[in-house]
Amino acid sequence: MAAHPGGTVVELGCGLETQFQRIDDGRVHWLCVDVPQAIAVRERFLPPSERCRHLAMSALDPAWTDHLPASAPLFVTAQGQQQIQAVERSQKAPARRGQRRSAAERFREANPAVG
Ligand SMILES: C[S@@+](CC[C@H](N)C(=O)[O-])C[C@H]1O[C@@H](n2cnc3c(N)ncnc32)[C@H](O)[C@@H]1O
Repeated sequence: MAAHPGGTVVELGCGLETQFQRIDDGRVHWLCVDVPQAIAVRERFLPPSERCRHLAMSALDPAWTDHLPASAPLFVTAQGQQQIQAVERSQKAPARRGQRRSAAERFREANPAVG
């Protein structure tokens, strides 16, 4: 975040994780992705904001990449075994258009350990 101020962090399978609330530097943009049932629970305790958005969808659906900025620095986290499996499968999903393919490429660059 210090090296890329104003970048975007994607948290796949966010659950009730509070990383944004704990390390927000006032510039970072955060995208919390989890299944609709989990986002519904999350929003009871951790409401979304302009810089911490919630996305109620499966990480296995490559459409989450549609919600990424076109060119900002990107960091993707997927904490926990379920999320890692989700990432591996989502990486194999075909890109549906150029912008999404670009986001998927950036994702792989940021996560060489799972690529
Ligand atoms: C063990 S919790 C970990 C939550 C959080 N990442 C943490 O470290 O505290 C697993 C989370 O993965 C989510 N999850 C499971 N399958 C998912 C999927 N296909 N897409 C997105 N999230 C998923 C669950 O809803 C749950 O919130």
